[in-house]
Amino acid sequence: MGDLRFETVRPDGDNATRADWQYVHNLIIPTGPLSAEEVRARAHRNRLNVTYHGDTLVGCSTVRPPTGDQATATVIVRVLPEHRRQGFGGQMYDKALTAAYEVGARVVETVVLASNEEGLRFAERHGYVEVDRYVLDGDTIPFIDLRLAVSGVGTMQV
Ligand SMILES: CC(C)(COP(=O)(O)OP(=O)(O)OC[C@H]1O[C@@H](n2cnc3c(N)ncnc32)[C@H](O)[C@@H]1OP(=O)(O)O)[C@@H](O)C(=O)NCCC(=O)NCCS
Repeated sequence: MGDLRFETVRPDGDNATRADWQYVHNLIIPTGPLSAEEVRARAHRNRLNVTYHGDTLVGCSTVRPPTGDQATATVIVRVLPEHRRQGFGGQMYDKALTAAYEVGARVVETVVLASNEEGLRFAERHGYVEVDRYVLDGDTIPFIDLRLAVSGVGTMQV
């Protein structure tokens, strides 16, 4: 496996990078497609990355910065189906988790569509446990929030 290249989506930067992030997001989350304007707004709030293997688009990630008393950040990694099971998701996750801690996260969560078995297994293998499940207005498939549990049974904080 060669090196991955990570590009940050800037709200007012390169349209192609933003469009690549939008393409991956909307393909993997068909229940909640985002418009170009919504992606731009998210790029202001969150750290959005696009990942390439050489010149090939393989995935994207989101780090929502920490909020609340527990400084809880959210990390989400998405790999296009044809590029899965080669270790790309794991590398992207490591980078996104580091970015979350760099901006002050003490607790880390992720969110996965309940229908997404690969995503749930990936999150659980990386130490996440389910903390909430809910259906958004107009949706039918629940989202599952999972929290990174480290250093021992019953300990959720990092
Ligand atoms: C979850 C997701 C990001 C995983 O991406 P990925 O690139 O397949 O991840 P990895 O390749 O690092 O790991 C996936 C599996 O492939 C295996 N794998 C890694 N490298 C491999 C290789 N070279 N050969 C064979 N298998 C390999 C891993 O061990 C892992 O196995 P497991 O599922 O049995 O634990 C991807 O399925 C996805 O985008 N899902 C939709 C979005 C989502 O739910 N994201 C999760 C929220 S963080």
